[in-house]
Amino acid sequence: MFLVKEKLDLAAEQEGLVVGLFEQPEKFAGSLEKLDEMFDGQLTELVKSGDVSAKFKQISKVHSFAKIGAKRIWFVGLGKEKDLSFDKLRQALGTLVKKLTKNKFGEAAFYLDSFITEKVDGLDAAHALGEAVALASYRFDGYRQKANEPERKLEKLMIYSESIAAEEVQAALTVGYAFGKGTNSARTLVNTPGNLLTATDLANYAAELGAKYEFEVEILEKADIERLGMGALLAVNKGSAEPPKMIVLKYQGKEEWQDVIGLVGKGITFDTGGYSIKTKAGIVGMKTDMGGAAAVLGAMEIIGELKPEQNVLAVIPSTDNMISGGALKPDDVITSMSGKTIEVLNTDAEGRLVLADGITYAKHHGANYLVDVATLTGGVITALGVHTTGAMTNYEPLYEQVLEASMEAGEQMWQLPLFESEKERVRNSKVADLNNSPGSEGHAIVAGAFIGEFAEDTPWVHLDIAGTATAAKDYDLGPAGATGVMVRTLALFVERFEPTEK
Ligand code: BES
Ligand code: ZN
Ligand code: ZN
Repeated sequence: MFLVKEKLDLAAEQEGLVVGLFEQPEKFAGSLEKLDEMFDGQLTELVKSGDVSAKFKQISKVHSFAKIGAKRIWFVGLGKEKDLSFDKLRQALGTLVKKLTKNKFGEAAFYLDSFITEKVDGLDAAHALGEAVALASYRFDGYRQKANEPERKLEKLMIYSESIAAEEVQAALTVGYAFGKGTNSARTLVNTPGNLLTATDLANYAAELGAKYEFEVEILEKADIERLGMGALLAVNKGSAEPPKMIVLKYQGKEEWQDVIGLVGKGITFDTGGYSIKTKAGIVGMKTDMGGAAAVLGAMEIIGELKPEQNVLAVIPSTDNMISGGALKPDDVITSMSGKTIEVLNTDAEGRLVLADGITYAKHHGANYLVDVATLTGGVITALGVHTTGAMTNYEPLYEQVLEASMEAGEQMWQLPLFESEKERVRNSKVADLNNSPGSEGHAIVAGAFIGEFAEDTPWVHLDIAGTATAAKDYDLGPAGATGVMVRTLALFVERFEPTEK
């Protein structure tokens, strides 16, 4: 996939050479001076005239007319050198990779040194490239009878790195690529329709992933779920023809099973709303309601590849949310695994129910830190839009670690408050300990507050990805559809995690 060489070879024959270009001053530095010389200074002229642009994310193609071995040069505009960040570089490279993939180029050579700045070192640049190559070339083929045009992916990359040792660059490329691949796996799970991805299918997928990376796998079947008293997961599953699953993957990267990070993902394979049924417009797209589960599984894939020295317990409560004569009804009172009883006021607020049992299970199996991820509420879209994941926490130091990871992954998040007033709304029921839907005011927050009742004192971060799990339009690093959001944030968070006493 990636071949790294320590000297720029302008004579090597290839489809194209990729070079980063900064604005103001636009100049060809280092080995690129030689490149410009080989074009008798014409490249400088093209930059001056604006035919080759250094504006951020502008891609310019110049034919080499056999002056060098590469048939063409692709210039990647990087904007002002001082403004380039790791995330912006990843975006710019994404734009390039999309263009190359669209034009069916299977190979390219990259002059890595031309992407390096004071803030973005060569290893960052290599990581960004590896990630961009995987992310930006993703596509979901779907199920048309007439096959899509066969794919030609960018799969042969030559990397010239003159300032950093080849093995280090190779390692950073491989890590970046693994991050992209894990994200793509999550995207595919989310793009798969509910009839082709039931809780059983999701469990089988997780079991295969677990076998590949030697995780301990436990798939709790309906009988186990009943035996363990997971009344909230069972309640959501009552209307379904498909059995529920509680999917558990255990990765132990430390000697002892301590400082365990519990990753809990909402795995609703289709959400009709149940008897609080969705509208005919609102129900479309609800195959994506297992986006949290997909994020956790994508992160586990990266964890399996990179094997960090951490302990992780992935827990995915999974079912669809359907209607039948036996389905859960508004007014029903159910008993969760924790023993807490819940008055169900809205069967469409099902995510918080299954997560309640997921969180309790994770705690019982040693999770000392919890992060739940869920396509939980339309409310988070109203509050933050579709580019920002909503976060809540009962423990700031843990949130700070998640936030840090999200910034590095280029996945925006913003914290919503968890005040007593909202906790009280969730606790306000005449017949049970809690109610699952105390009204629509600030309902992203009450959903989080509800889940917090089950985290209790365990440090916990809640991530609501209802807005960010899918994209309506193509973007730099992927096509419209599932984004695989939070896969890379979770994986980075786990990799960097440091236990903090509460
Ligand atoms: N799965 C939905 C949330 C959702 C909405 C995900 C839009 C993706 C896009 C969730 O189960 C739900 O229905 N939430 C309700 C909660 C309400 C009943 C309190 C909502 O947001 O309307
Ligand atoms: Zn719902
Ligand atoms: Zn849902």
